[in-house]
Amino acid sequence: MKGTALVTGADRGLGLAFASQLASQGWRVLAGQYLLEWSELLDLARCHPKQIVLLPLDISSDASVREAARRASKEVKAIDLVIHNAAVSSPFKDQEIGSGLNYKEMIRLYNVNAIGLLRVTEAFRSLTDVGGLKRQCIISSEAGSIERSHRKAWFSYCMSKAALNMGVARLYEELRHEGYTYRLFHPGWMKTYMSGVRNDAAELEPHEVATMALHYFLTSGEADRRLMMSDWQGQVWPW
Ligand SMILES: NC(=O)c1ccc[n+]([C@@H]2O[C@H](COP(=O)([O-])OP(=O)(O)OC[C@H]3O[C@@H](n4cnc5c(N)ncnc54)[C@H](OP(=O)(O)O)[C@@H]3O)[C@@H](O)[C@H]2O)c1
Repeated sequence: MKGTALVTGADRGLGLAFASQLASQGWRVLAGQYLLEWSELLDLARCHPKQIVLLPLDISSDASVREAARRASKEVKAIDLVIHNAAVSSPFKDQEIGSGLNYKEMIRLYNVNAIGLLRVTEAFRSLTDVGGLKRQCIISSEAGSIERSHRKAWFSYCMSKAALNMGVARLYEELRHEGYTYRLFHPGWMKTYMSGVRNDAAELEPHEVATMALHYFLTSGEADRRLMMSDWQGQVWPW
């Protein structure tokens, strides 16, 4: 095996593409399973029975993340690569200020999109600390870029991704001294399931984005020397 990777939100969309390509490249993949009735990840696990380990994982729940880390430690001795991919959008994203914003929904997004990073990082430390690569990859979005996000409304998603970016910056300051390296990534507009159904109007197939992202995640470069957000075309973003 090339190494062991953990991918959150691996059921469908970009996370499934990561799990599939990593398995094809010879990685063992702990595939975070959130949707128990979605068949694509199960099919992938059947194709790669030695490489894909299904790991029930809800990154919004302390108990689920702790239990996933406990299960992972029974399967593997170390994790080399973590792809923090899972996130949610909201059917209330177009609500504008003054319309009676749905604050409960905002907290739901913040819990998954921002705090999920910390839960997973903390719970899996004993496995990632002993990994060979010690690489943490975070799927963010231009939506969280204070300088470049020009949407109206979309408060919860944009604010949660900005908070995610700040969480990455804080982790970077702390953990780079322990040998961790970071890749922060904006994947572009993809034909995935963030709205609950596949968005065929979007520009990019998740598998093509996964290929470009994995190249960025697994090669050395400027991102080893500074924390930066790069996109699927290798362009650096203000964030
Ligand atoms: N799609 C885009 O155009 C776009 C643009 C910029 C950034 N991104 C980012 O790209 C990443 C991948 O998203 P995607 O586009 O592939 O969306 P997706 O198709 O919705 O995939 C995300 C996966 O994460 C799962 N998930 C949701 N809540 C979770 C939780 N609490 N714990 C664990 N898994 C959970 C989702 O399940 P459900 O389907 O049940 O929610 C889904 O399987 C996200 O970080 C997203 O913010 C996407």
